[in-house]
Amino acid sequence: MARSEPVPSTVLVTGGAGFIGSHACVDLLDHGYEVIVVDDYSNSTPQVLTRVERIAGRFVGAVYELDIRDRRALSAVFDRHAVDAVVHFAAHKSVSGSTRTPVEYYDTNVGGTTALLRTMQEHGVHRLVFSSSCSVYGDADDGPLDESTPVRPTNPYAASKWLCEQILADVCRRRPEYTVMCLRYFNPTGAHPSGLLGEDPRGEPDNLMPYIAQVAVGRRERLRVFGHDYPTPDGTAIRDYIHVMDTVQAHRVALDHLADAPGMHVYNLGLGRGSSVLDVVAAFSATCGRAVPYEFAPRRPGDVAELVADAGAVARAWGWRPALDLADMCQDAWRFQRLNPDGYAGSARGPKTKD
Ligand code: NAD
Ligand code: WQD
Repeated sequence: MARSEPVPSTVLVTGGAGFIGSHACVDLLDHGYEVIVVDDYSNSTPQVLTRVERIAGRFVGAVYELDIRDRRALSAVFDRHAVDAVVHFAAHKSVSGSTRTPVEYYDTNVGGTTALLRTMQEHGVHRLVFSSSCSVYGDADDGPLDESTPVRPTNPYAASKWLCEQILADVCRRRPEYTVMCLRYFNPTGAHPSGLLGEDPRGEPDNLMPYIAQVAVGRRERLRVFGHDYPTPDGTAIRDYIHVMDTVQAHRVALDHLADAPGMHVYNLGLGRGSSVLDVVAAFSATCGRAVPYEFAPRRPGDVAELVADAGAVARAWGWRPALDLADMCQDAWRFQRLNPDGYAGSARGPKTKD
């Protein structure tokens, strides 16, 4: 990995208390970075960062409870710390939530990103790793999707991510000092192998793996499998699940490559292999040693039969590939759920808001 400059050493992580952000903080601390976190805890808890520090055996440099749209507060963070690069996770991420409150989604996801960019510009910070999503591909045709696949966002969440990508591309076209790594995650899941960090959605989980884990631990009666009449081998929908530890490792590798070439770089993050809903149920059942009860239910509105990444571009660019498979994701997700049956609420967060 030839580099023209040293790797950035102080990284501002927005949304650092969230599911992916917290795992990224551990990985960055483990690899010698100074980590500054901003988060408004709208979908997380400060307790997570205590666990991050416990795993890493190091302190997060500083933590700020703020909304990234608050430019004055954000600016004060950049005044206080010599930030080399930003990893921008902070956003609202529920597809169904975005159809209920689209303005809130555009305001946080797009307005939050422009507030961050203006603040970075004012402070001479030009290096960014951005969380995008496979949802920008929308109802793309079947087959592995590479980064040149035309985007077709079909909900406000996906559209907000695509708008951010377009803004970032415009900035990079006009300002040669910027480097942006835009990572389109497919389905990140799993947990930190310590069992201390994992996915802890508030209320009823939207996503498959945390739902299965809550059924397996006895918090929910059975999984509803949305659709079993898709044109797939077992009739259930296929997705490309990627371990959260691989996902965050890719962010660190992206940071290492920020000095290589200016401009905007877009990469898929997936295994490049699809698993059906029933594949995931079977893998989880094998891991936890008991059958996960499920019933078939109608298709979920907006779902598509298959979304699988062509993960070749990131491998060619950085020589990086995900190392962990579906069995690893199930094992780590199960360890987290078993050790934290009520999620973080079982420790210091207090009761969940809506369950
Ligand atoms: P998450 O909700 O667990 O984490 C997001 C964090 O950002 C939370 O801690 C939340 O409190 C914080 N946040 C939200 N709005 C904020 C604001 N205005 N100011 C400050 N902090 C704010 O979500 P995640 O799963 O960790 O996702 C991280 C990023 O990855 C998001 O941008 C999401 O859109 C993207 N993404 C996630 C997935 C996935 O399946 N988890 C897939 C593709 C892309
Ligand atoms: C996976 C499969 C469901 C729950 C979402 C976002 C996407 C990205 C990743 C942020 C689907 C089925 C699920 C359940 C089920 N996030 N399922 N029963 O929908 O592929 O992607 O997360 O960027 O934008 O859309 O992930 O985990 O919700 O669903 O049968 O209780 O599991 O129908 O086929 P999805 P998911």
